[in-house]
Amino acid sequence: MRKKIVAANWKMNMTQAEAASFVETLLREIGDVSDVEVVIVPPFTAIAKVSEALGSSETIKIGAQNMYWERGGAFTGEISAAMLRDLFVRYVVLGHSERRQLLGETDQIVNRKVRVALDASLRPIVCVGETLEQRDRGEVERVLCQQLRGSLAEIGAKEMDDIVIAYEPVWAIGTGRTASAEQAQEAHSFIRHTLGEISDDATATKIRIQYGGSVKPDNARTLMSQPDIDGALVGGASLDPHSFAEIVRGARPRSSGPRRAVAAEP
Ligand code: PGA
Repeated sequence: MRKKIVAANWKMNMTQAEAASFVETLLREIGDVSDVEVVIVPPFTAIAKVSEALGSSETIKIGAQNMYWERGGAFTGEISAAMLRDLFVRYVVLGHSERRQLLGETDQIVNRKVRVALDASLRPIVCVGETLEQRDRGEVERVLCQQLRGSLAEIGAKEMDDIVIAYEPVWAIGTGRTASAEQAQEAHSFIRHTLGEISDDATATKIRIQYGGSVKPDNARTLMSQPDIDGALVGGASLDPHSFAEIVRGARPRSSGPRRAVAAEP
């Protein structure tokens, strides 16, 4: 049974004070949820503050929005995997479509970063997804296959256990236009099938695949109750702690009480 993973991708938002206040509210709302893995992905400048505000909370983990593939040296403006580890970061989002589109990130670059992240014991959240033009041209499967094979090249089956995939159709990001549960499930099922070809079926069955793109409290549960949707990568709706908490609750098994903790393995 795959444990759902819900992540708050704050993008280029949140000062340190805003981040601390968010965490305080979120802990009050979902502090004892243990049947969903919750990750906050702040901008680099707020990571230390989020870490401090989380204190000893084991429920919520920290992610970063990007990193560089070199270990250190003359790379002005970049951040290394070791620097993220130093701030107690556990996950790193790689290949987000905003970076692919605005900053020229290619599958090859994403692949180098995935390699270095795994070597540093960071868990990559690898983003894939098609544009509207590609969907209209019937290229969804070709694009997903190419992004997955490129980004995960040379990654061993055993290491794949530590990877999370985020399916984020570009046309659904920040647009208010969500993929329907059926469209998302179809893409997720194809992604799992492709992961099986890249590694093996047993490994693919264990890998968590998040959906991202205009996830809101009112569509989260329907999306996450699809068989191959194992959580959400949330942008806009993750900036408000109440709506993010509501989305986290939408990931909980139906039988869970509002605050009851159910032990589960990631
Ligand atoms: P959105 O962003 O929820 O604002 O659509 C999702 C993402 O880009 O991760």
